[in-house]
Parts: sequence; structure tokens; C-alpha cells
Amino acid sequence: MALKRLPWDCVVPGCFKAQTTSTQHKSHISKQTSFRRLSLSDVSNHGSSISANDLSSSLVGSNLHIFTLVELKTVTHNFSKINYLGEGGFGVVYKGMIHDGLRPELKAQVVAVKMLDLDGTQGHREWLAEVIFLGQLRHPHLVTLIGYCCEDEHRLLVYQFMERGNLEDQLFKRYSSPLPWLTRIKIAIGAAKGLAFLHEEEKPVIYRDLKASNVLLDSDYNAKLSDFGLAVDGPQGDNTHVTAQVMGTQGYAAPEYISTGHLTAMSDVYSFGVVLLELITGRRSVDNSRPTGERDLVNWARPMLKDAHKLDKIVDLRLEGLYSTEGAKKAVLLAHQCLSKNPKCRPSMQTVVKTLETIMDLDDIPVKSFVYIDPALLKEASVNNCEDAAEKDQNEPGNESRVEEEVEIKNVKGHRQQKRPHKHRHRTRVSRSRAVFSDTALYSTLRTSLYSPKSKNESKENTEE
Ligand SMILES: Nc1ncnc2c1ncn2[C@@H]1O[C@H](COP(=O)(O)OP(=O)(O)OP(=O)(O)O)[C@@H](O)[C@H]1O
Ligand SMILES: [Mg+2]
Repeated sequence: MALKRLPWDCVVPGCFKAQTTSTQHKSHISKQTSFRRLSLSDVSNHGSSISANDLSSSLVGSNLHIFTLVELKTVTHNFSKINYLGEGGFGVVYKGMIHDGLRPELKAQVVAVKMLDLDGTQGHREWLAEVIFLGQLRHPHLVTLIGYCCEDEHRLLVYQFMERGNLEDQLFKRYSSPLPWLTRIKIAIGAAKGLAFLHEEEKPVIYRDLKASNVLLDSDYNAKLSDFGLAVDGPQGDNTHVTAQVMGTQGYAAPEYISTGHLTAMSDVYSFGVVLLELITGRRSVDNSRPTGERDLVNWARPMLKDAHKLDKIVDLRLEGLYSTEGAKKAVLLAHQCLSKNPKCRPSMQTVVKTLETIMDLDDIPVKSFVYIDPALLKEASVNNCEDAAEKDQNEPGNESRVEEEVEIKNVKGHRQQKRPHKHRHRTRVSRSRAVFSDTALYSTLRTSLYSPKSKNESKENTEE
């Protein structure tokens, strides 16, 4: 679980406290008559008095469903503990199932239902930001908001369900196997594309809350940004920045934003640099269980980021060297640029995407073979053993009943290739290297889902066979 989201004036003593965003717009709720995106400021001056109907008429064309509390109780089995997915600053998130027939226009699907904790630190404003932004912005790397509920004081949000949960859990959970290098790069590309989309909108959006726990993953490790509670409209016209109360999560917020409250797209780029560094190192942005000098990831890593000789000190040890050295050098340099203290020296998110895509193409990844024993083959081998043993017993009574049959099976695809027939009987030894499965096959699969397949990689696997 991420550190709780706190106003920075609580975390940083004497921190700047700004008043509003720079854009003071019309205070009425405008009907969305064109494709122009409705801004949060268009509706937020109504505060908590906005009704579900006001909101739905403002978001015409967004395809958001307005659920009743009763419907969401049904969907989540009365917010049953069994369906608990997790809890953040907003409240508890439950898994739910929308069955055929709940709404004629809504297909049956698994969803995640987030319920505002009425005693919590967040409230209507965050809920509204989520509905306004995610209701109108659709992109493969933003989580899909299916609908919401706004009944009395209750505020709920209904999202597409993301099978692999959040990146923080995938990356840092102690007992999970480490994410392979190219999976990490794929996730970084997804998150970067999500941010690039927001920054390049006609009315740009600053996400303001990029962190590992807000990057959700589908079954294929496609990353999608979630949690738009802190998102704001970017600067407009001649404004260079937006001034906003300093909010965020310790360890991810850009230093200039913490010290001045000035927010730009470059603040998101800094936070992305922190997440990229987490992906490279396998270390949390803040980890108080580490020795003093290593608790703050950026401070610990910064002196090593420009030194190619320090690569093995930075890259996650759990990868056991299974990464592209060239790719890691590029990724570390990119993180260094994103984490520049001068926001003007940081790259745009579009540049970040392009750089990461070149890393995805590098295939100088050492191949580690590991043993996989197909249970079916084991069973077959034991049957053969028994048959051979029976035969041996028949032919050579009194001999040891163990018969060896060399069975050679090696193939990255895991099927049996060759069974060497034996006229002579030997001592039985079921070889433990039955099938050799290469990590490269996984990389190749991942690459295929992003790009066209690389014959170079495939031929590499074939030679291993
Ligand atoms: N659409 C979703 N599909 C699957 N799991 C989800 C979904 N949305 C949220 N979750 C899970 O619910 C949990 C709580 O998420 P939430 O975004 O409320 O909190 P957080 O990101 O951990 O903290 P914070 O409030 O600081 O953002 C997380 O573990 C997350 O993985
Ligand atoms: Mg979150």
C-alpha cells in the first residue's frame, strides 16, 4: 500500500499554500454541446451541491452509467469482504460482477467499485475530478470509468477490472516472482503513453499523482493510469504553470512543485522518472526499512545515474543479470533526465515514449534456461519405468528392478521431441532436465503484443532447441 496521500503543508513544514488554480472560469455548469472537454472548474464551483442529473447532463456523450447504490450492492454482493481489492485514501475498492440484464446497454463484465470513505481524507472534489476527467478522456492507457453513483452523501466509482492489480504490488510484493526486464519496459511505455496523451490534449491535463500504486495492469501487463482525483487542467493561454495546493505522495512529487506550488506537465515527468527508477531498481521511492542513505530512492540513485560503471549497483538484483545492458543504460539515463532538478531540462512524455520503445527493441538479454518438468511426461516416464522393470524382471530375474531409459526432451515450447529407443536396459534415471524453457520465449511474446514479431529473437530460440 502506498503512503497515504497528504497535503504537502502537513509533510513539508512551512510549505507554500496556494489558493486556486489559475483558471477562474464561468461558474455555471455548461452543457457539453461540442466535443470540447468540460473542465473541472466548469463544475467544481458548485461544490457538493451538484446532483447526479446535473452531472450527467454536463457529460452528455461520455457514455457514463449512473448506478444506484442498490445496484452496486448487488454487483459487489453487498460490499462483501470476499470482494475486497484494496484501500487507498479515497476508500475501499471492491471487485464486482455486472450480469447481463442489469442494464440493457451494459455488457456483462467484471468491475472494480471504489466507495468514498465518508470519514476519510478525500471527498467530493476528488470524486468529481475522477468523473469529469475519466468520464471524458478515453485512451488505451487510461483505466476506463464505466459509471458512478451519487446518492445522498454516497459517492462511488465503477471501473473496468484490472486483473493484475497495481504496479506497486507487482513490483514489490515479497513473495511474487520478479517482473522480467521487458515486462518492466512494457509497463513504463504504457504509463508514459497515458501521460503523453494527457499532456497533448487540446486542453492539456496534469495528472499530478503518478506513482506505482496508481498504475494498474491488465492480464497482459498493459499499464493504465487510474486515480484522477488530483488531476487538474494544465495552464492555458500565456500561463506557464498552474498554481495549486501542494498535494501528492511523498517520494514522487517534483521538488519545484513542493517548494512553490507551481505545477506543469514537467511535474508529471519528474514523477514518471521516479516510477521508472522503481522499475529499474526494484526499490520503493521511499523505504524506511533501508539504511539511512538509501531510504530516498532518488537521492540514493542520483549520483550513480550518469555513471555507466554503476549499472550493476542500480539495476534490480532480482533480475539476476537478465536484462539488456544497452537498454538498462538508456533507461537509467532517461530516468536521470526525467529527474532533472530543472524542469526545463526534462524530456516531454512523447520523447520518453520514443526512447523507451527503442529499449524494447534491444535484445541483448542473456538467456537463462530453467528446468520445467511436464507432469504428464513424468507420469509417462514412470509408466515406462514400470514396463521396463517388469520386462527386466521377466528376462533377468534376480536383477535390480531399476531400469534406465534416457528420454531426451528439450524444446522451448515444451513438447517432447525425441524418445531414444533402447534395446539394452540400463539403470532408471528420470532426467530432471526434461524440458528447457527459455525466458526469451516470454520476451518474445511480450514483444509480439506490442510490436511485430522479431525474427531475430525467434531464430535465437530455435538455435537453443
Ligand atoms: N480498476 C481496478 N481494478 C482492479 N483493482 C483496482 C482497480 N482500482 C483500484 N484497484 C485496487 O484497489 C486498491 C486501492 O486503490 P486506490 O487507488 O483506491 O488506492 P491506492 O492507489 O493504493 O492509494 P491512493 O489513495 O494513495 O491512490 C489498489 O490495491 C488497487 O490495485
Ligand atoms: Mg490509487
